[in-house]
Amino acid sequence: MSLVSPPAPLLRFDRVSKDYGAGSPALAEISLEIAAEEFVVFLGPSGCGKTTLLSLAAGLIAPSSGRVELGGAPPVPGRRTAMAFQSFRLLAWKTARENIAFALPHLPSAERRARADHYLELVGLTRAAESYPRALSGGMKQRLALARALAAEPEVLLMDEPFASLDAQARELMQHELLRLTGRRPATVLFVTHSVDEALLLADRIVLLSPHPGRVVEEIRLPFASPGRGRDPRAHPEYAALRAHLWERLREMVLKDPQSDFYGRSET
Ligand SMILES: Nc1ncnc2c1ncn2[C@@H]1O[C@H](COP(=O)(O)OP(=O)(O)O)[C@@H](O)[C@H]1O
Ligand SMILES: [Mg+2]
Repeated sequence: MSLVSPPAPLLRFDRVSKDYGAGSPALAEISLEIAAEEFVVFLGPSGCGKTTLLSLAAGLIAPSSGRVELGGAPPVPGRRTAMAFQSFRLLAWKTARENIAFALPHLPSAERRARADHYLELVGLTRAAESYPRALSGGMKQRLALARALAAEPEVLLMDEPFASLDAQARELMQHELLRLTGRRPATVLFVTHSVDEALLLADRIVLLSPHPGRVVEEIRLPFASPGRGRDPRAHPEYAALRAHLWERLREMVLKDPQSDFYGRSET
């Protein structure tokens, strides 16, 4: 008999609902447990509550009912979590280095600069340290936004469709960059997307959400999840069947839901 109980989950959603008071709830009765260093991808059509779910995890909004806990207590904004958005939200009047340093107000200034330079290097932007956002390409801006979120060295990284505005090639490069960086300095990641392929590439576990109200309809722990990261999951024998299954589930949701707008909206 073992007296050692399994580790408590880092993040817990316990029957969480969020109702903005406009029609059906954005999220209804979500129960989820996320372990430290797990990479969880939330997949679902527009309007299924993905952004709401991340905002709850960040402590930016409170549930209407139920409880969200990070390490046993309700999450406090800016502490232990960092958010990366689809829109880069860079400060136009600050250089790349300053954009990162600005996000680290709790550090002494010499350390802020050293930390900023370290993360600029990790994402391959050392030579752009003095550049302003307007001088950077879309892919470079996205790498800068990723560096800024990582530089806070959060326990939990919350990513809201962060690569959706990139072209296919920049997107694939960023996906691999993210896997490399989270492999180097492990973090717990909650990543939102409506791309089946992105979910299959990145996730340890995929949580499939349906809209109106937002509910968990299926959870899939991938047979090719980490520590297999770094291999191309497309070569795995179960990849094609999983991909077809997820597409079919999404297609059903979109066809069934008159309010659905799968491609219509970007970040909300
Ligand atoms: N601040 C808000 N006020 C009112 N309704 C909102 C607000 N934010 C989101 N919603 C609604 O909640 C539902 C889920 O939204 P959201 O979390 O943005 O979904 P997703 O990110 O999956 O597209 C949608 O129907 C949306 O219109
Ligand atoms: Mg959203």
